[in-house]
Amino acid sequence: MASADGGRAPLHKETLAVGAGYEPSQAWGAAKPPMVLTSTYLFPSAQKAKDFHRAFFDGATHDVAGALIDPGFIYSRLSHPNLAMVETRMAALDEAEDCAAFASGMATISTLALTLLRPGDSVVHTQPIYSAADLLLNQVLTGLGVYVEPVASPLDADAIRAAAAVAAAKGPLRLFMLESPANPTSGLVDIALFRRIAEEMAGDQGERPLISVDNTFLGPLLQRPASHGADLTVTSLTKYCGGHSDLLAGSVSGPKALVAKVKALRTIMGNHMEPFTAWLMLRSLESLSVRQARACTNAAAVAQALRVHPKVASVNYLGFLQEGTPARAVYDRQCAGAGSTFSFTLEGGEAEAFRFLDQLSLIKLAVSLGGSETLICHPATTTHYAVPPSRREAGGILEATLRLSVGIEHPDDLIAEILRALEAV
Ligand SMILES: Cc1ncc(COP(=O)(O)O)c(C=O)c1O
Repeated sequence: MASADGGRAPLHKETLAVGAGYEPSQAWGAAKPPMVLTSTYLFPSAQKAKDFHRAFFDGATHDVAGALIDPGFIYSRLSHPNLAMVETRMAALDEAEDCAAFASGMATISTLALTLLRPGDSVVHTQPIYSAADLLLNQVLTGLGVYVEPVASPLDADAIRAAAAVAAAKGPLRLFMLESPANPTSGLVDIALFRRIAEEMAGDQGERPLISVDNTFLGPLLQRPASHGADLTVTSLTKYCGGHSDLLAGSVSGPKALVAKVKALRTIMGNHMEPFTAWLMLRSLESLSVRQARACTNAAAVAQALRVHPKVASVNYLGFLQEGTPARAVYDRQCAGAGSTFSFTLEGGEAEAFRFLDQLSLIKLAVSLGGSETLICHPATTTHYAVPPSRREAGGILEATLRLSVGIEHPDDLIAEILRALEAV
């Protein structure tokens, strides 16, 4: 289970990732969670049906006779056993009271934004931010009358305060939407600094802006946003947590009351995580620590090979952050590892980048990241294609920038292929 019992020391995350959320005695003693494929659930009586609904919609804990309600499942769009298991496990990994799991990372982010923001409100986000989140902010939310302000220097208190002041002048600043490390530049955000600035603002506007952090690039084992002041930890589980490039999923963890609001909107929107994906997710989370450890070791070797190559202009690998810089200080405080997805920029432009990509065969040309296999893409023409060039460039995504998600293959094979491809550029 998620917490230690019987006075034992709290369990490590590697242990929680294997078992949290699953209680075999509730499933015939099956050693592993069964997949529960049903859309609807039978009620033992009409009164129990009413009690289950009172518990789900009103948070009722006791029935009319004063007895504790042991709420059952109602209908899979509301919740289902595999979903509840994933949520318990992710809440444990994210060190949060509760979690809501979704059909994708973007289902999570958009439902969260629509839960927290109303016309007239404002939101500050870090830049760059994942392209679909950028479009959500700059097309959907602005279209609904939400004021959106970017901050491109998320380590600089003055820049954050300035962006927050511009936003707050337009309407109550409800949310700092952060992504750290940023996709694809690995730019870091100082979460604790945002929290301090949010606290300062509480006095001015009566309510502290909430802080959400997209933790997709590092995941729950390498970065703990809640411990640095984030209210909500968002993860595209499609990436490292899913880990095999065979599913789409997402989650947001945080205080129970906030997550309850997100779940209420999810019930209406119907974008929950379905049973098969949830079952796969439980299985994938078990091996997250070993997959990520191996991928991180590989990434360090690949990044070093790129760094010393004359045709490579720069490598945005967190492990290379210079001592004494603000980014390095945040890295040392906030991150337990450099991860295995990073970007690098070739000498030249799009033509050089394309020539390099077309030489690769072991390393696959595809969007997405965090799978067991190594993937590479050209963000300006793929993942960030729909983001206007000015916003792309402001976020550091250049014509010759490539994003590499290093997998768990043998690093020598990856490096040999990269060196061969660079010869052809
Ligand atoms: C940082 C980040 N956040 C969110 C998402 C969206 O996740 P999904 O594709 O699961 O909707 C992605 C997808 O690449 C991402 O890289």
